[in-house]
Amino acid sequence: MSVLSFPPGFHWGAATASFQVEGSTTADGRTDSIWDALCRVPGAVVNGDSGEPGADHYRRYRSDVELMKSLGLNAYRFSTAWPRVRPDGGAENPKGLDFYERLVDCLLDNGITPWITLYHWDLPQALEAEGGWADRDTAFRFADYAASVLDRLGDRVHHWITLNEPWCSAFLGYAVGRHAPGRTSPRAALAAVHHLMLAHGLAVDVIRGSAAQAQAGITLNLFPVVAVQPQDAEVARRVDGLQNRIFLDPVLHGRYPEDVLADLAPHGFTDYVLDGDVATISRTVDFLGVNYYRDLQVIDSGVPVTGPTEWIGAETARFPARGRPLTDMGWEVVPEGLTDLLLSLHRQRPDLPVYITENGAAYADEVVDGQVHDSDRVEFLAAHLRAVHAAISEGADVRGYFCWSLLDNFEWAEGYAKRFGIVHVDYATQRRTPKDSAHWYARVIADHGLG
Ligand code: NOJ
Repeated sequence: MSVLSFPPGFHWGAATASFQVEGSTTADGRTDSIWDALCRVPGAVVNGDSGEPGADHYRRYRSDVELMKSLGLNAYRFSTAWPRVRPDGGAENPKGLDFYERLVDCLLDNGITPWITLYHWDLPQALEAEGGWADRDTAFRFADYAASVLDRLGDRVHHWITLNEPWCSAFLGYAVGRHAPGRTSPRAALAAVHHLMLAHGLAVDVIRGSAAQAQAGITLNLFPVVAVQPQDAEVARRVDGLQNRIFLDPVLHGRYPEDVLADLAPHGFTDYVLDGDVATISRTVDFLGVNYYRDLQVIDSGVPVTGPTEWIGAETARFPARGRPLTDMGWEVVPEGLTDLLLSLHRQRPDLPVYITENGAAYADEVVDGQVHDSDRVEFLAAHLRAVHAAISEGADVRGYFCWSLLDNFEWAEGYAKRFGIVHVDYATQRRTPKDSAHWYARVIADHGLG
């Protein structure tokens, strides 16, 4: 008997994303995404890494599914690549869809529930050339792409996530320029926020229209935001507004937050919001996907950052560390923040089920004698699962947990240097080595909880 046991039917999963694991970037008609393009910009990605070879999941998906089965996973969250399904954002490419159909069927044959994310950051570069997410039309192109995926897979896939972490797409992609498409325009970033949310709402309609029984949701990267001292409260409110509430409030409460609209008025945000849009972006969802990595302790430094920043209107914000242990990303380990976050969501919308669609940590893992002793990651995951359990005990309706990630993979601007997998990937040979954390997770799943 486990001490902390999870609710019946709990989804125990792992997650990946197309560009991060697939490789085969020119196979079967795929064309460039904004990440293929950014990877070619000298200095944009650590070590000049690119989507090749990835973890070669495009060709090795069968053995990867066997690996998932051997670990006892009952759910796998992956994303479909827009530039495979509609190369250049144009006509449908049956061969691209064939891949996802093979993957889905293989998962189902092995008793693993597929969870599809429709957008995990790989916008076709051809659409970026026409304005990308700063252009309203991209939202409608996304709905067409979503319809292609739903037509093919809506009969078999019952869990759909429209967007992954639109905050990153909008602010890291269009304001900071550290992510693709590498732009540094605050105005474009705010346009992207709205057009991404519009795309989300349009995609919910597509999901409902094609797969009436399907569950539809969105995945947000949410951070508890804490003002370090009372004088930091105003800048913390603004950070929370841009980081969390501008995305969360339409989904939970059917509107953009008034205070954020007021903050952003000088930056023209509402120019992009046309009649009827708020109703679209606030379509009813069946669940909220939460990606949790850490919290944000905020101080108001009084000094605006120099250079591009995501904190439009909160440029004096700084995020000091508290001396907690750090992961290889330099992120503090704050498991109790996940309990706080889940309870806050529960207070706001007790009726809305939540899935942890990502949680995990990068550590500098090495294979020694065929094993990877990643005790830091085991501790990280255990502490966060305990935090999830604590929230469930207090009433939060959390129905599943997906660790990030199944495999080591392409960590965006950090390239392959950061390893988030519970399974180690040797990129030269593509050999998979389950880390201690994978064996540990398999036991958690088998016990349906933590001993
Ligand atoms: C969130 C993103 O969805 C995922 O793509 C990324 O690799 C992880 N966080 C870790 O940074």
